[in-house]
Amino acid sequence: MIDRIQKLIEEADSFTTNSLADLEAFRVKYLGKKGFLNGLFADFKSVPNDQKKAYGQAINTLKSTALEKVSTLKAELEANTTKTSAVGDLTRPGDPINIGGRHPISLVKNQIIDIFSRIGFNVSEGPEIEDDWHNFTALNLPEHHPARDMQDTFFIQTDPDILLRTHTSSVQVRYMENNAPPIRTISPGRVYRNEAISARSHCFFHQVEGLYIDKNVSFADLKQTLQYFTKELFGKSKIRLRPSYFPFTEPSAEVDVYWGLETETDYKMTKGTGWLEIMGCGMVDPNVLKNCGIDPKEYSGFAFGMGIDRIALLLHQINDIRLLSENDVRFLEQFKSSF
Ligand code: PHE
Repeated sequence: MIDRIQKLIEEADSFTTNSLADLEAFRVKYLGKKGFLNGLFADFKSVPNDQKKAYGQAINTLKSTALEKVSTLKAELEANTTKTSAVGDLTRPGDPINIGGRHPISLVKNQIIDIFSRIGFNVSEGPEIEDDWHNFTALNLPEHHPARDMQDTFFIQTDPDILLRTHTSSVQVRYMENNAPPIRTISPGRVYRNEAISARSHCFFHQVEGLYIDKNVSFADLKQTLQYFTKELFGKSKIRLRPSYFPFTEPSAEVDVYWGLETETDYKMTKGTGWLEIMGCGMVDPNVLKNCGIDPKEYSGFAFGMGIDRIALLLHQINDIRLLSENDVRFLEQFKSSF
């Protein structure tokens, strides 16, 4: 009899499983109502008196072995289950992956960079916090020049020498200071102007400015470049140049692209004229070249600058510039499929 109990103790002690169901079956087999232990306790009466002590000790050992086995295995298995669920059930079907999209400003900026890189322009960048020299003075806008008011400026604290750049022409100055011609570069970046915020304008926006300096660069080169650009970006190559004024270019012009008058939106966007103003441009003023260490007798060049935000509104039919900086996912999600 005792031998049988001894065998059960060994069996219980060596029992192991990975499954909670098996463990439950083990518990029922040993400790359940009709389990080994209850049976053995019932047999106790019929054990001869001189064996009762040894018998009693044996079933007590069996009981504690079984109880301990159940509680340690249970703790182990439950700890394992939580570990696996943290990793995730690897056999479950995959969740749909939510892919992000590019911001419309980036989309348009990348398109513009791509178009100009095909005709040999590289990309240059500079600081958003600028000094007076790079944003104004070098660009033929000396102190007290009335044209400084064309771009309302944010100054940093009380130092009138440090400001938030009002255009990325400042990057072109830096580029000319550090690179000898021939120069073909475009400068995309964020710029700041102290303007009232509305559906049409914001106190910060994005520009791409371009600069081309070499021997014998002419106004005809500028016009051809712009025509190529508008054809590539808008699919429209009819442009016109209206005389204008910028302190850093001479002569200067505004570029309009003929958008057409086919739909009601065309009418609205072009105020009934069919023409849309898209950028400023001109031949780099000899004074600017001189300021940046380039000999204007040897070299000439053209420059142009446009606002990316307005073009993004145009290309994606967005009617409020503020949407571009509000980060509303309902707005941003609409550009997921674009590249
Ligand atoms: N810097 C001008 C602006 O911000 C744009 C421009 C660039 C005009 C180059 C002419 C030549 O408005």
